[in-house]
Amino acid sequence: MRLLEGRAHLVRVAGLFAAGLVVFVVIRALLVPADFGVYGHYRAGALDDARKLPVVHAGQATCAECHTDIAELRAKGRHARIGCESCHGAQVRHAKAPDEAKPERPNGRTTCVNCHAANVARPAKHPQVDVAEHPGDDTACIACHVPHQPGTAPEVK
Ligand code: HEC
Ligand code: HEC
Ligand code: HEC
Ligand code: HEC
Repeated sequence: MRLLEGRAHLVRVAGLFAAGLVVFVVIRALLVPADFGVYGHYRAGALDDARKLPVVHAGQATCAECHTDIAELRAKGRHARIGCESCHGAQVRHAKAPDEAKPERPNGRTTCVNCHAANVARPAKHPQVDVAEHPGDDTACIACHVPHQPGTAPEVK
């Protein structure tokens, strides 16, 4: 015991560290879910939880099966790569039962402004307009642009 003489303060510090470690290990064992780390740095059961969530997007290939005319029109313009549900919202219920769930028409102005209002954070080659000047009033964008083929003007009825 001569070794520890005058070093009691070191023993106390070491004891405190050891106690802290034990508390940490116990609390960690209580809080970390049993299936954490089975596949990686996450809870394995989270995969099943995510699988149980309802699917809300149908995907544009499904829309195109019935709306062939619009899919063909869209393919000819610069919205060819904009998915139907980017503008129409998640529509799986409509796609499964068109008569039971009819989609609302997207707003012909706010929908467009979301993607086209001038913003320095957007790539310079992305088509943008200053909505205070283009068109300058609150005319709907779709009064002059066909949403499914935006480089063209709508037919005058
Ligand atoms: C199984 C066939 C089918 C599928 C798949 C389908 N639709 Fe439809 N859709 C219809 C039918 C039928 C109507 C009703 C047409 C009518 O009332 O003139 C309709 C109407 C619409 C309307 C118009 C509502 C209105 O105001 O006239 C929109 C918008 C629409 N669908 C979007 C979509 C989108 C987006 C998808 C893909 C997520 C989709 N549809 C998938 C059959 C389908
Ligand atoms: C860039 C946004 C945008 C995209 C992408 C888009 N739509 Fe539309 N769609 C609109 C808007 C806005 C209207 C409403 C037009 C109106 O009120 O006259 C509309 C109307 C419709 C209608 C109602 C009938 C008609 O001809 O106006 C259908 C059906 C439809 N869209 C289906 C589709 C399908 C299917 C796709 C994908 C192939 C698609 N849309 C992609 C914006 C979009
Ligand atoms: C989800 C984002 C998104 C929405 C919503 C959207 N657009 Fe676009 N739009 C684009 C992208 C991306 C391009 C350019 C694609 C490319 O460079 O090929 C484009 C291109 C255009 C162009 C240029 C067409 C040309 O031939 O020069 C016009 C005009 C346009 N959109 C109008 C509209 C209108 C009107 C609406 C509303 C009905 C709308 N957009 C909604 C993403 C969007
Ligand atoms: C009164 C008719 C009219 C209205 C309303 C209108 N536009 Fe246009 N827009 C045009 C015309 C015409 C052009 C083509 C100008 C040109 O030659 O570049 C154009 C061009 C564009 C372009 C392409 C710009 C580029 O750099 O290639 C975008 C994006 C666009 N408009 C978005 C919108 C949006 C978003 C709205 C609604 C807030 C809107 N437009 C409302 C007539 C209109």
